[in-house]
Amino acid sequence: MGVRFLSTGAGLPDKVLTNADLEKMVDTSDQWIVERTGIKERRMAAPDQATSDLAVLAARHALETAHLTPADIDLIVVATCTPDHLFPSTACLVQKALGAVNAAAFDLSAACSGFLFGLSAVSGMMEAGMAKRALLIGADTLTRFTDWKDRGTCVLFGDGAGALLLEKTEGPSDLLAVHLGSDGSVSDILSIPGGGSRHPLGSGVGEFPPFIHMEGKEVFKHAVVRMMEAMEAALKKCGKTVEDLALIIPHQANLRIIDAIAKRLKTKEDKVFRNVQKYGNMSAATTIIALDEAVRSGRVQRGDSVGLIAFGAGLTWASAILKW
Ligand code: UT7
Repeated sequence: MGVRFLSTGAGLPDKVLTNADLEKMVDTSDQWIVERTGIKERRMAAPDQATSDLAVLAARHALETAHLTPADIDLIVVATCTPDHLFPSTACLVQKALGAVNAAAFDLSAACSGFLFGLSAVSGMMEAGMAKRALLIGADTLTRFTDWKDRGTCVLFGDGAGALLLEKTEGPSDLLAVHLGSDGSVSDILSIPGGGSRHPLGSGVGEFPPFIHMEGKEVFKHAVVRMMEAMEAALKKCGKTVEDLALIIPHQANLRIIDAIAKRLKTKEDKVFRNVQKYGNMSAATTIIALDEAVRSGRVQRGDSVGLIAFGAGLTWASAILKW
């Protein structure tokens, strides 16, 4: 008993913010950004677009691909750390916009690892008999929480949403293994200090702004170690090796992190997916948008084994091996 993967979808804003655009905003250069991160451009939500709007685009895309209607869905989970509001949940707004009247809906927060934490939660719920067909969405609009004067962070992030449609099956699960991990003891190296209940907006915003704070070098080191650890743990759980995987999709935060992982996994360059050049780091949307691109371009075929790895604030890290 387990889950089957029916389809994927993506929702990206139209606006492209290039490195040349950023050169006009902060003291940076296309050369620095490309050399240190690999990023050439990223997408940015329009002023009237919030996280739920991108999530709805991704959800509709996945539903159309699977030839299903919103009424066929009985669970909607949105992994996001940039919800439209503190409440109601972004998932409830998605339910309303889709007209998915039969679905229970809630959000889940594990920052950039949110989609894979969501995959673990949703598949567990389905195996426990709590849902038959689910929409799992990873969606974030980190550009809304970016300090456009901080060149150390404002060049890194983009907005987007990706969706996965899952169905319960009595046969063997297409989710072969999941591994999750967290380390809250270093939560301060990557955070949005203000805007929550610790430092609410309006009380000391100057000291605790609602913008991303990141100690980049520290985060980099943790990212490589934890993503490697996660991939090895998931492979071990399902008795597979890197050679068994058709494609590995690591979180897309920095090309140098992706290259370091590819090197440590001792695998061919083209087995490791890269689209960070086009989108930057889209947080919880990253791995599912990458999977959607890989499936639509034919890089992942039905029956292929795929490894997904994520890492983010918390700290959190996660991996999954799935049979597409
Ligand atoms: O999803 C969460 C996961 N996030 C990540 O995994 C991000 C991990 N960290 C990183 O990707 C990298 O640490 C960064 C890309 C953020 C930074 O790269 P770095 O090689 O660690 O650079 P740095 O922060 O040590 O900065 C090196 C220099 C500094 O100048 P000085 O002190 O050497 O004069 C920075 O001020 O580069 C400067 N710098 C920039 N220069 C031009 C920092 N940002 C920029 C910039 N343009 N945008």
